[in-house]
Amino acid sequence: MKILVIHGPNLNLLGTREPDVYGTFTLDDITASLSQLAVELGCDLSMVQSNSEGTLVDSIQAAKGVFHGILINPAAYTHTSVAIRDALSAVALPTVEVHLSNIHKREEFRHHSFVAPVAVGQISGFGPDSYLLGLRALVNFVRQQTKG
Ligand code: DQA
Repeated sequence: MKILVIHGPNLNLLGTREPDVYGTFTLDDITASLSQLAVELGCDLSMVQSNSEGTLVDSIQAAKGVFHGILINPAAYTHTSVAIRDALSAVALPTVEVHLSNIHKREEFRHHSFVAPVAVGQISGFGPDSYLLGLRALVNFVRQQTKG
């Protein structure tokens, strides 16, 4: 099983970016933990990070026929991007949305997600564990789906 992991804008700055909100771990730390879990779960991961909405849309479009599912932290585009939502809807791959912080506990503009309605589910507020929980949930979902 092949899973595409997508990180949106400013997540390349993890480690130094608002450590009181996002912690001090880096994107490389998250990649290392996910890669370790992927071995346990028996899946292959590819990672993409971009600050550009168009590049993220291109990556989602290119995932069709190549990947079985998408794990995405759309970051700020969560709250603004109809284009990312439409791309996810177009490729119709099982998608799990993750956030490091609990977006529902923060400013009101972060409470709405354009992505959530086209995702299987959303995991928010567990720091790097959101990604690990999200990957487990996504792999289980895809396995169940291919069984049925
Ligand atoms: C985030 C939450 C978003 O509101 C914010 O814009 C981010 C990161 C998170 O992982 O907690 O960049 O997606």
